[in-house]
Amino acid sequence: MRWVMMLTYIVVIMITLVLMSIYILGVLSESLYSNESVKLFAKANIISGTIAPYFENPSSADGSMLAGQILAGTGIRAVAVNPSFTVIYDSNTEASLAGKVLMRDIINTAMTGEQAQSVSKSEEGKSIMAVAVPVIVRDETVGVVYLNESIDDIDKTISYVEINMFFFSVLISVLVGMLSLGMSYVVTSPIDDFIKVAKEISKGNYKVRLKIRGRNELSEMADAMNSMCEELENVNETHKKFISDASHELKTPLATIKLICDSIVDTKEPDIEMIREFLADLSNEVDRLTRIVERLLTLTKIGSEEEMAKLTPVDFNVMLNAILSRLEANAKAKHIMLYGDFSLQEIAPILIDYDKIWEAVYNITDNAIKYTPENGTVRMRLELEGREIAVIIEDSGPGIPESERDKIFERFYRLDDSRARETGGTGLGLAIAKEAVTLHGGRIEVGESEFGGSKFVILLPCRRAEGADITR
Ligand SMILES: Nc1ncnc2c1ncn2[C@@H]1O[C@H](COP(=O)(O)OP(=O)(O)OP(=O)(O)O)[C@@H](O)[C@H]1O
Ligand SMILES: [Mg+2]
Repeated sequence: MRWVMMLTYIVVIMITLVLMSIYILGVLSESLYSNESVKLFAKANIISGTIAPYFENPSSADGSMLAGQILAGTGIRAVAVNPSFTVIYDSNTEASLAGKVLMRDIINTAMTGEQAQSVSKSEEGKSIMAVAVPVIVRDETVGVVYLNESIDDIDKTISYVEINMFFFSVLISVLVGMLSLGMSYVVTSPIDDFIKVAKEISKGNYKVRLKIRGRNELSEMADAMNSMCEELENVNETHKKFISDASHELKTPLATIKLICDSIVDTKEPDIEMIREFLADLSNEVDRLTRIVERLLTLTKIGSEEEMAKLTPVDFNVMLNAILSRLEANAKAKHIMLYGDFSLQEIAPILIDYDKIWEAVYNITDNAIKYTPENGTVRMRLELEGREIAVIIEDSGPGIPESERDKIFERFYRLDDSRARETGGTGLGLAIAKEAVTLHGGRIEVGESEFGGSKFVILLPCRRAEGADITR
């Protein structure tokens, strides 16, 4: 990743620099060449003007003298040819072409009355720029002035700029490469940390955390990842606790069963009555085990994602009455006055998952009867509170201290462990009730009852199902 980033930067910058160099060198040589040709044409035109009389009167040497003065010290060679391409003047006196025929394309063009220019290579490989301008006397082309000069200086300047630009590009590429390597390190090092943490998580180590540096998208991602780790750690802890609690709960009845079995085996001459008693105890313990397992299954089923609330229209009055009559016998056995105070409430059918809400209300009412001493009172009410429906169950029992009100919903939590265990409590009833109500988007509140005991309020969102057929 780091190298890919660095190479990408270098390639991009190099392409940019090459294109930029080509453009700059093109513009530079264009301007140097055109500048030189303008100067050469200017000189050629002056010479053409001054040399014109020489064509009419070849004996006069003024024109050639003047041309010699104009070109003095420039390194430019001037040649004048007549219409038959014979050189009648050459500024180079040492290798003079005077009297010889000089044929050049641009001279040909100039004979037609137009100026012309060319750039070529000399035999020594030097660049030569040449211009040809017509010599006009009384609107007639009487000859051509041909000028040429070496433009090696221009080529040298261009190649000098070329070399400089090459070194400049290499320098820039190296700098960009180093910079991008540094930058890619800054960008990718948090990603390396992410990979390390993700690997640790996959190994089951949820205690790892990422360092938060600065405030940007990556730090926000790190923050989110840390929250995820925290959540996973919590879930993991809860799972571990749940498994250890469940094993502990299952171990107690199993130990009792083992004890009863050993007692039967160890008794030398057991009489039938004794065995019957042992077996009755054994049956109780098996019942207890079955209850725990059933409740655990219910709890996992409600907690699992696949288990969605199956909403059907339910008449709450009917359902609550059914729960009360199911628990009547338990209340009677303890001389508890169990009654519902909701018959006057006219509540239209509500959409709920019947079985789950039944379980929740049943568990809470069952608790109220179970934990209220003999001759007590348990009352169930139904109220509409805004957009919520409230089932209120109150008792005259010992109540629940404020500090314990959250904990009682935890799995296997019992206020008075031994007493609750004696009553057959698994400590799962309220956990199941909470899951069922939460699944409906509702909640359970705990408070004090006017009877001196506890007050449980089950609040459910009121989804009316007017006109629908009532399921039960
Ligand atoms: N109405 C109540 N009055 C006093 N204490 C209560 C009441 N309801 C619940 N509790 C306390 O909360 C604890 C948790 O209740 P929960 O219903 O979850 O478990 P349980 O009743 O012990 O077992 P299970 O419901 O499986 O039979 C109980 O053990 C009890 O100590
Ligand atoms: Mg209970």
